[in-house]
Formats: sequence, structure tokens, C-alpha cells
Amino acid sequence: MEDKIIYLDEVISTNIYAAEKIKNGENIKCVIADFQTSGSGRMGRIFHSPRGVGIYMTYVLNTENIKTLNLITSAAGLAAAEAIEEIYGIETKIKWPNDILLSGKKACGILTKLITENGKIKFALIGIGVNVSNEKNDFPEELKQIATSLKIETGKEIDKNILTQKIIENLDKIFIEKIFSERKIVDEIKKRSSMLQKKVFVKNEGKEYFALDISPDGGLVVKDGEGEKVIHSGEVELY
Ligand code: BTN
Repeated sequence: MEDKIIYLDEVISTNIYAAEKIKNGENIKCVIADFQTSGSGRMGRIFHSPRGVGIYMTYVLNTENIKTLNLITSAAGLAAAEAIEEIYGIETKIKWPNDILLSGKKACGILTKLITENGKIKFALIGIGVNVSNEKNDFPEELKQIATSLKIETGKEIDKNILTQKIIENLDKIFIEKIFSERKIVDEIKKRSSMLQKKVFVKNEGKEYFALDISPDGGLVVKDGEGEKVIHSGEVELY
């Protein structure tokens, strides 16, 4: 296993940088940057990545360890959630499929990109962004009500290197050492889920459902008057 970790002062996006390295045949484990000029978020959004106050990292997983995209993203969310709980002793919630919430606000987002070669999945690039030391006023207006940081929640100065190391350690435990079965991963995600047993709104369908469960492959099990189904992608909000 190649353990090369690349540290960058500034980058467009650690996900894009990691993808380029992989396409050039380089073996890398992780790319970590202090600042992203255009961090990629879900649904084509930009992930707010100001200099010095967040963790912006991409963890590279090779094909042998790849399960479903949802499960990878959720397992990575679990790794980050546990790291936050272990170091700061605060409660985390996981908003399906990829956000970590503290006091109901987003402190971490995850975006996984798959790299294929000849039609086969070869790598998953797990991009993790954590708001570490942002002050409330550092967030742009549209994020002020929905985003938070570890510093805001704990009231303490946070050493982001310690948290970064812990997240990598937890990712290794889950994906390399495989300390958890898939079932255990799903159980741990369920324990922290912000959605289960609540009414949710599936944005791309414009429909309301009741969230019942997380499926064994990491999907969100919902029901409405017509029955149950599993959602594998898209944006879901609490109603
Ligand atoms: C989201 O919440 O929409 C996902 C955000 C993912 C952001 C991280 S920051 C590090 C990595 N590089 C990127 O360009 N995006 C991910």
C-alpha cells in the first residue's frame, strides 16, 4: 500500500488534483490543501474553502475496496464523525448521504468521485471538507444559517492537523483494515442519522416521504402512500 500524502498550500480542488495524479499513474494516498480556489461540492456547487480554517482533503481508495458509492461516502462520513466525537466529545449527526451536522448545522461535506479505466471502476476519490476554525461571520450570507464549524460548536481553538490525522486513521481502519462489517457501518450510520423516522422532502422528485431506514448498501429507505422504495442519489431535506 502506497502511503504518499501530498500537502498543498493552495489548489483548485483536492479532488481534481488527486484525479490528475491518478490519471498520470501516480500512487497517492491523500491530498490535503490549506485553501481551495474552487472546491467541488455536490450538485455542481462550490464548496466554501477559505484559507487556513478548514480541512480540504481527498483520500484515495483503490478498486479492491470499493463497495457501492453510497456506502463509501457514508462510511467516510462515519470515519469523520467518529474522529470529531473522539477528539472533541461532541455529538454528530449524519445527514444522508454525506453531510455531518453539529447542532443541526453542516460542519462537514463529502463528495466521492469514481475513476474508471476501460469501463471498470479503479479508484474512489473521497473528498472531505470540514469547517474547522471558521467564525460565524466568515460564512457567506447564504450559508450563515445552515453551516457551522468545530470552533463555533466547541468554543475552543482547534488543531486541524490532529483532526486530519484522526480522520485518515479512521478511514484506514474502515477501508484498509476493515474493522467493521458493512452491516456495522450501516448500523453506526443509522445511530447518527438525522433523518430516520422523520418526514423528508426529496428535492429532485418534489415529493414528501417518511424516512424509514438505511439500506444495506447505504441507500435511504423511504415510504409514501404508494409504498416503500430506496433512494440512491439526490438531495433530501428534513421536511
Ligand atoms: C458537499 O457537501 O457538497 C460536498 C463537499 C465536499 C468538499 C470537499 S473539500 C475536499 C474535496 N475537494 C473538493 O473539491 N471537494 C471535496
